[in-house]
Amino acid sequence: MTTRARADKTPRRVPLSHRRALIARHTRLRPVAGVTAVRLHLADELAPLWRATESALGVTGAPIPFWAFAWAGGLAIARYLEENPDEVRGKQVVDFATGSGLCAIVAIRLGAARSSAIDIDPFAEAAVALNARANGVKVGFVGRDMLDDDPPDADVLLAGDTWYEGPLAERVLPWLRRAAAGGTRVLVGDPGRRYLPANGFIVLATYDVHTTTELEDREVLPARVFTLAGLA
Ligand SMILES: C[S@@+](CC[C@H](N)C(=O)[O-])C[C@H]1O[C@@H](n2cnc3c(N)ncnc32)[C@H](O)[C@@H]1O
Repeated sequence: MTTRARADKTPRRVPLSHRRALIARHTRLRPVAGVTAVRLHLADELAPLWRATESALGVTGAPIPFWAFAWAGGLAIARYLEENPDEVRGKQVVDFATGSGLCAIVAIRLGAARSSAIDIDPFAEAAVALNARANGVKVGFVGRDMLDDDPPDADVLLAGDTWYEGPLAERVLPWLRRAAAGGTRVLVGDPGRRYLPANGFIVLATYDVHTTTELEDREVLPARVFTLAGLA
């Protein structure tokens, strides 16, 4: 998995309407394999979309357009929530590193009292809004890096596919631990990324999730859902 995270200069600010138009141009609204009745604006091909976002931002080396795909970790969480709706029903749910908004959308569809998404990618803000609307639900959005702040005051904190790079993993783990220590139920989804912590997580479920060879080396990956040890 390559994420090319170092832009050569400061990205320009792209107005929300332009971000929405770019998403509409480069994605198709379609079902998500293995997830009931959710449709997302998803890309078929990575390269042209990535070039388009770099061009819009006026940089080379922009992060991968994560928001245009349902990643294996998020797919596992979505499947787990569908099998265990009581995890979110009536609860305040926050989906950290939401990308497309998949897990936040599934949570609210399953009866969460409120569902919010966090992501630092400005295109994710537009994607979450479009995807929430396409599924007839409301999802809040926070577009800033919250990892140096206290974790959100939520009943449930979801984190799908966040262990793909070292610096992010180092910041996410203590933040999730603080959330769990404060009484938040933390659910992590991951297909075995390089920086997934070796210890301290309890496996709740394993799924074979259908992803794409645009992102992964095979179409079907085993992905697990965890909670934090000692806090299950
Ligand atoms: C591999 S994608 C996973 C997206 C989604 N959770 C899923 O499973 O489909 C990782 C996401 O983390 C987001 N991200 C990276 N660093 C972040 C940070 N400090 N705060 C919030 N989101 C972050 C990226 O923008 C990207 O959308």
